[in-house]
Amino acid sequence: MDAEREAVGVVGVGWVGLVTATCFAELGHPIVALDVNEEKVESLRRGEVTIHEPGLAELLEKNSERITFTTSMGEVLAATRILFCCVDTPPTYSGDADLSRVRSVVAQIPEGSEHALVMKSTVPSGTGASIRRDKPDLRYVSCPEFLKEGSAIEDFMHPDRVVVGVDEGSEEAADAVERLYQPLGGEMVRTDVASAEMIKLASNAFLATKISFINEIANVCEQTGADVIEVARGMGLDERIGASFLRAGIGYGGSCFPKDVSALKQLAGNSGYHFQLLNAVIEVNELQKRRVIAKLEKHLGSLADKRIALLGLAFKPDTDDMREASSLVLSARLQGEGAEVVAYDPVAEESAASMLPDVEMASSATAALEGADAAVLVTEWPEFSELDWAMVRESMASPVLIDGRNYLDSDALRAAGFVYDGIGRPDPPDGT
Ligand SMILES: NC(=O)c1ccc[n+]([C@@H]2O[C@H](COP(=O)([O-])OP(=O)(O)OC[C@H]3O[C@@H](n4cnc5c(N)ncnc54)[C@H](O)[C@@H]3O)[C@@H](O)[C@H]2O)c1
Repeated sequence: MDAEREAVGVVGVGWVGLVTATCFAELGHPIVALDVNEEKVESLRRGEVTIHEPGLAELLEKNSERITFTTSMGEVLAATRILFCCVDTPPTYSGDADLSRVRSVVAQIPEGSEHALVMKSTVPSGTGASIRRDKPDLRYVSCPEFLKEGSAIEDFMHPDRVVVGVDEGSEEAADAVERLYQPLGGEMVRTDVASAEMIKLASNAFLATKISFINEIANVCEQTGADVIEVARGMGLDERIGASFLRAGIGYGGSCFPKDVSALKQLAGNSGYHFQLLNAVIEVNELQKRRVIAKLEKHLGSLADKRIALLGLAFKPDTDDMREASSLVLSARLQGEGAEVVAYDPVAEESAASMLPDVEMASSATAALEGADAAVLVTEWPEFSELDWAMVRESMASPVLIDGRNYLDSDALRAAGFVYDGIGRPDPPDGT
């Protein structure tokens, strides 16, 4: 197979699929990309990108000649021999991963076909083995995806590592995957399918653990007068620890960490092992989202009828993804306390509106803050650091600011007359 021109099939064009399709097209491959969502396929055919991901629309436009969007699996199978499965694997009520979409893709690959299926969807360890038990002839490769929303193209094009999991009988397919990724650099980790699947879950669980760990340190800092930013800086310079994922805040969210941590916990439980550490990671994260309420009450007393402005709704900046965003729990808790919630997000308003029907959506940060009794910075969008905070202070009913991501300049805000409260930061000596 000539990796230079090998046609690539992509099944499921959400965040992972659309980035995979676009980036492989950029590397020169003809792409046939399938989704069951006809509306999405129609939009993509018109060149309209359905998600907010920096640089994606431009790269897609540049490579539009090489990408065909379709709803027909027949078209994908006819044009390609290698299919990347990028469908969603959301959590079920039990916390396990829902593999029904993956199973439906597998079922559409004919018995005895020469197609190789490359699993990019995040699946529990053991999924590949179970798929091959049902379809022993299927050429199957596990190639988990590690991209981050907000920098997905950069991550795809410059991977730290590419994990290629393969079991006996699919080696040629794994070689083809390696050839596709070879121009991108990044260490190639060739391993068995079960280990590849576990690398993905364990990586996300570890990162989530790091976040919950620093959040607990932040909570202890609040009791002892230490500053978590200083603590994280001092810890992160230790090469054994590393500086990333040591930013205290109001908890992790998004489509991956919550579901993957839960899937790993359930996978362990289903195999008879009680994964105690992950229980704590999950619980700390849930409590962290709620700690803002106590902070607001400390400054305002009862929150009944108080107007609280949320700055940012998306689970992180540079995305409009609202899946498991901390803002969802926070706004529900605020409303539960009787507060009136107004919110602004530069790009997530549309995706948030249906999930937060009782939240008033403002057209700008200043509009959200006008008349508010307090503001909570939920997502660290750069535009929030550029606000004219002195002017904002004048427009608020009371100048209370809870910085849920330790993103803003606490000294400047205090100098502008704000009561500033971050996460794991000490109160100033004069108690303002
Ligand atoms: N989003 C991320 O940052 C990220 C990062 C790494 C890994 N992952 C994993 O990648 C997988 C996909 O995640 P995502 O965020 O891209 O999901 P997504 O929900 O954004 O996209 C999934 C797409 O698959 C389509 N689909 C569902 N069933 C289908 C079927 N039978 N045939 C064709 N298309 C179908 C859906 O319509 C949707 O467009 C998940 O397993 C996720 O855990 C996601």
